[in-house]
Amino acid sequence: PFPDLAYFRENRPIFYHETLDQWFAFGHEDVSKLFSDPRMSADRMKGFVDAAPEEVREDLRKVAPYLEMFVLMNDEPDHARLRKFLHRGFNAEAIRGLRGQIQQIADELLDRVRETGRLDDSADFAFLLPAYVLSDFLGFPEKDRDRVVQWSVDFIGFFNVVPITVETTRDMVRSATEMIGYTKELLAERREHPREDFLGLLAGADPAEISEEEVVANAMLLLLAGHVAPRNLIGNAVYLLLTHPDQFAKLKEDPSLLDGAIEETLRYEPPVTLIPRIALEDVEMGGETIHAGQIVQLSIASANRDAARFPDPDRFDITKKRGPTLSFGHGPHGCLGALLAMEEARISLATLFRRMPDLRLDDDREIKWYRNAANRGPDSLPVVF
Ligand code: HEM
Repeated sequence: PFPDLAYFRENRPIFYHETLDQWFAFGHEDVSKLFSDPRMSADRMKGFVDAAPEEVREDLRKVAPYLEMFVLMNDEPDHARLRKFLHRGFNAEAIRGLRGQIQQIADELLDRVRETGRLDDSADFAFLLPAYVLSDFLGFPEKDRDRVVQWSVDFIGFFNVVPITVETTRDMVRSATEMIGYTKELLAERREHPREDFLGLLAGADPAEISEEEVVANAMLLLLAGHVAPRNLIGNAVYLLLTHPDQFAKLKEDPSLLDGAIEETLRYEPPVTLIPRIALEDVEMGGETIHAGQIVQLSIASANRDAARFPDPDRFDITKKRGPTLSFGHGPHGCLGALLAMEEARISLATLFRRMPDLRLDDDREIKWYRNAANRGPDSLPVVF
């Protein structure tokens, strides 16, 4: 809860949790510094196979090399090499080119519930939209969109649920194996029939720059990184606006405040709340020593409410220009998909509020929150219109 974060930020800004044997950083300045500190490794996959139940370790070893190739988990120099390649597909022009598709997906999803007057904003809309957009962005045929959703569900189940269980591991390994084979086939097809889209970029990769395995692995990462976080951004924005009627009224009066509403949602309720780093050597901070090999959790949620950086931080105010937050990370691993996520949020929220102007929470159905320390957003957000 945010009051606890405020307590730690003020009293124990660099905090060691004995039971977890992990450090936590709560202040904006410290979190920013740690994000850009080259002594902090992003490779959180070390030893993860051994942390899984023994009966699934063999299975896990089959896909582990792919997971270890995620740009997100690599340090320099491999990180910069992978990122430079992927970045080409995320330029502003490519993202602008997706606007029509995002709009179409938003309208299709809302058409499905148009007659009912009820919507689960998370399950029926915010959950499916980013997955369908990614499926299109990756160049997968439209008929396979729901297959892509299933892969993503299995990845989320494995990566975001602690502890790792036999079932979540089996589901993830099955889906990863399927997605690896499927993507390789599509890449071969695209090499025969080149096209200038993201899949075309992946298919045309120079093996000296990035191997086919790395290409496939990072397609998988995009699905993992680009699904739940945008879902939570859209869900958090709808929830915050519906529970702050004064702010929602301002937005209805002046739709140009939408970007402000999205940015304020990102600050106030960041979809990604906690990011881990591992110290490669001893690091001094706030009078404490983080020892080599120890994990530090960077609290984005706390840094975004630091009054030293954001005056009146506990007020949700869509009209306040507060400047950049840490919600998309910071430094070398800063989010590759931020432009895409913003575009998805803009189009989905504008469409939702335009088509359902009297949108309100459904008092008869319960809101369910995604229970995870590192991601926050509603799993189920029933609304009526
Ligand atoms: C990295 C947040 C959407 C792809 C990150 C990081 C954060 C973040 C905090 C930093 C991770 C770290 O430092 O270890 C978010 C939020 C999103 C969002 C809040 C939505 C609101 C997306 C989307 C995509 C994406 C839509 C792609 C389709 C990535 C990738 C990285 C990343 C590939 C790793 C970059 C690197 O390691 O160099 N994101 N993300 N994200 N994000 Fe996002």
